[in-house]
Amino acid sequence: MDKKIAVLSGDGIGPEVVQQALKVLKSVETRFNCKFSYTTGLVGADAIDKVGNPYPAETHDVCMQSDAVLFGAIGDPKYDNDPKAKVRPEQGLLEMRKKLGLFANIRPINTFEALLSRSPLKTELVRGVDFVVLRELTGGIYFGEPRGRSEDGLSAFDVCHYTRAEIERIAKLAFEMAQKRTKKLTAVDKANVLASSRLWRETIQDMHKEYPEIALEFMFVDNAAMQIVTYPGKFDVIVTENMFGDILSDEASVITGSLGMLPSASICIHTSVFEPIHGSYPQAAGKNIANPMGTILSTALMFDYAFNMPEISQIIRTACVKAIEKDVVTADIASKKACSTEEVGDFIAKKIENL
Ligand code: IPM
Ligand code: MG
Repeated sequence: MDKKIAVLSGDGIGPEVVQQALKVLKSVETRFNCKFSYTTGLVGADAIDKVGNPYPAETHDVCMQSDAVLFGAIGDPKYDNDPKAKVRPEQGLLEMRKKLGLFANIRPINTFEALLSRSPLKTELVRGVDFVVLRELTGGIYFGEPRGRSEDGLSAFDVCHYTRAEIERIAKLAFEMAQKRTKKLTAVDKANVLASSRLWRETIQDMHKEYPEIALEFMFVDNAAMQIVTYPGKFDVIVTENMFGDILSDEASVITGSLGMLPSASICIHTSVFEPIHGSYPQAAGKNIANPMGTILSTALMFDYAFNMPEISQIIRTACVKAIEKDVVTADIASKKACSTEEVGDFIAKKIENL
């Protein structure tokens, strides 16, 4: 197997955690009969600083020619407190999602036995939690038009816009994912208030007729936010629109003990992108303390969703579990002495060769 991977490290801790994922891929090459070639691309604040554009055309070309994209993180505090900035790192991420047609973002929420005590929730609530947030990624209020300010600058507006076709394609994935898991699907919306949510509900209800074996429930987003931390074990597949998915997946991520553990896969039209859920964590950049597991586990998802080699994905996951069991982990989850980003990457890479 010979695969082309685009590497977009981005900002903050992005380059450090991506380096660890590359070590893991090297070990996969050593152990299995496969070969990866890499092309790097600029993205985020780093790309603004170097070429004035957070998602340059060259980066898009690199992504389009790749079998998968490994993405670090983007964001820089110098833009966060400057609402007047003309160009922002996040625009690069959104443009990439839109141009690559990444309409489905898969965010699995799994717990690790050895980390249960790190969760802010009670251990008995968290043990065995295993669900997926399937977030629509290229529509809704993130992209709706018109958007902006009134002429006098005293009001501003964003529009949540969805077409039936956009809802159908993500709902189809959701039903199919539920079929492969425990056949339970929760569709989260705000249909008691929003017209766009009512279109979601109507579309999913209609499609349910083709998947009668799936137990489908609808839940309002405020209720879902409460239930995720009250009964996290009752969820299996959650499907929702872009912004609700953004918020609920951050909420769900802490159930596992650290946001730094969680991977994601964004799939569909042109290529797929694999990135940790966490952001660029600028306070930790360059300190060799950031947790690389979210990025390493994102490469595991690459083998599930881009390369269709679930056995390699499983080995990467097992190597991460071994690191956790041996307490070879960074400060965010360490119970004793914390290891560095590189030490964690080295341990997992070596484990993969010897498992
Ligand atoms: C995410 C992030 C992004 C989003 C930001 C950085 C634009 O929070 O991937 O969840 O809101 O989608
Ligand atoms: Mg987010």
